[in-house]
Amino acid sequence: TRLVSDWSSDVCSSDLSRVSITALTEWWAEMGVGVDTALVEVLLKVSPAAEEKKPAKTETPAAAAPVRRKGAKTVSDWANEARAKAAAATTLDALAEAIRGFEGSPLKASCEQAVVSDGVFGASLMVIGEGPGAEEDRRGLPFVGKAGQLLDKMLAAIGRSRAENALITNVNYWRPPGNRNPEADELAVCRPFVDRMIELSKPKLIVAAGGVPAVSLLASKDGIMKLRGNEYAYATPGGYNVPLIPILHPAYLLRRPQDKSRAWRDLLLVEKRLAELGG
Ligand code: URA
Repeated sequence: TRLVSDWSSDVCSSDLSRVSITALTEWWAEMGVGVDTALVEVLLKVSPAAEEKKPAKTETPAAAAPVRRKGAKTVSDWANEARAKAAAATTLDALAEAIRGFEGSPLKASCEQAVVSDGVFGASLMVIGEGPGAEEDRRGLPFVGKAGQLLDKMLAAIGRSRAENALITNVNYWRPPGNRNPEADELAVCRPFVDRMIELSKPKLIVAAGGVPAVSLLASKDGIMKLRGNEYAYATPGGYNVPLIPILHPAYLLRRPQDKSRAWRDLLLVEKRLAELGG
């Protein structure tokens, strides 16, 4: 095992930009590795600013424009294809097959498999998360890693489980490299499938687990801290209307257990609304 100080000396001797150093140290912190913040401050002072490392701009605006191969599909072409495939699916199995056969996600090439859903199709509660991590990618099921285990406990606290009365899915079906957040174009091509799953399963209430699904589904400018614990109206393009409650992501709660009381309040709201909705 290497010590952080070993990695730090590599960082020191390599010519990393401020951006890389910051990203690296944030990643260390997230992984639970003790970070020597004083050393990082020194590194940030001696490192050349990212801007200084940018190559001189010699291209003309035309040359700098993104190259699009003739006939290559755009994000909106792929989203249209997803829409057509999703609309043609009339069962969850057919929808899952359409998702697995879809070639429009840029993430497909770098992961193991599509992770579609788990739980009870037709359940009154549908939980929509961000997307698969390493364990989900390996097993082909959503929320089966550490965060998933916490999600199961959170659901159990309000009498819900994927075995009996909840359907679990994500706004993105393919694992992004290094577990980064999915980008807008990656979410855009999945969205017709997400909407179709909602239309087919007809939940009485959706829980958006975390900022990525909440912000993306609600097209909100606000972050999860502002959105959480409130109820919003969600409408699919096919005309299915359903209330949606954003909650804090279980992976966030693993990092910040002090916020579990907020999550608990949000879960009680979910339980209350499901009872009122006859779910
Ligand atoms: N986090 C998510 O948002 N979804 C998963 O499926 C796993 C972890």
